[in-house]
Amino acid sequence: MALESIVHCVSTAIRTIGILGVGKVGTVLARLAIAAGYRVLVAGSGPAEKISLITQVLAPGADAVTAETAIAESDVVILAIPLGKFRSIKAPLLRGKLVVDAMNYWWPIDGILSEFEDAATSSSEIVRSFIPEARLVKTFNHMGYHELDEDGRAPGDPDRKALAIAGDDRDDVEAVAGVIDAMGFDAVNAGTLAEGVRFEPKTELFGASVDRDEVVAMLARFDDSAFGQMVARSRLEKAG
Ligand SMILES: NC(=O)c1ccc[n+]([C@@H]2O[C@H](COP(=O)([O-])OP(=O)(O)OC[C@H]3O[C@@H](n4cnc5c(N)ncnc54)[C@H](OP(=O)(O)O)[C@@H]3O)[C@@H](O)[C@H]2O)c1
Repeated sequence: MALESIVHCVSTAIRTIGILGVGKVGTVLARLAIAAGYRVLVAGSGPAEKISLITQVLAPGADAVTAETAIAESDVVILAIPLGKFRSIKAPLLRGKLVVDAMNYWWPIDGILSEFEDAATSSSEIVRSFIPEARLVKTFNHMGYHELDEDGRAPGDPDRKALAIAGDDRDDVEAVAGVIDAMGFDAVNAGTLAEGVRFEPKTELFGASVDRDEVVAMLARFDDSAFGQMVARSRLEKAG
């Protein structure tokens, strides 16, 4: 069955979305999720009171909670924090959880992090090595927060844009694709978490807000890009 035809069946299982990170992306995703009808819990790195005002102003309808509560009470947890801080997440709490990695290795903010400089390994694979028992899916990464905020459209709208998605478990990818759909975007499956490299920084797709056909084309062109060829060479060298 095609991805598009089953997303609505599985998305009904997701009612509550937890978002770790109440910054630029976290607040936009919270607004989109609220508009889509989900219960939304947002958390920063500290106590809930610290983010209650910003939540009221920038994500009205979301509940400001602690990260522990957001994780415990959510059907899906979105990581929207700077990648350089991903090890501050309480990894054991994510055991068995459906988790979305919206993070990017963005060196102007994160600084140079040597583990993310290895072209053979996608950033989401490194994140997964820290939370191996979570069910990790990568999406919401390549579109800027302004475009995420403004470009959502109803299904079938000719101006609808698309988000690439990657993950190792088909059911989990489909479940998150249903959330993307409800939030106003088409989802385009880029493959496994390793293939999530196709929409990391340094790729053509990174920063793009384009429709499904363009996302498909940009993902395919990755193989012929200078960065794509570097990734392929690095993987070959690592393999042996
Ligand atoms: N900006 C974009 O257009 C864009 C688009 C797509 C994806 N992304 C990615 O999304 C992530 C967030 O980017 P951003 O621009 O939204 O960053 P941001 O505005 O700096 O916000 C980051 C938030 O993460 C919180 N945080 C840090 N550690 C935390 C933890 N352990 N638990 C919960 N919250 C924590 C910070 O809160 P405290 O003050 O409490 O530490 C802050 O509110 C990055 O990885 C980025 O690459 C960004």
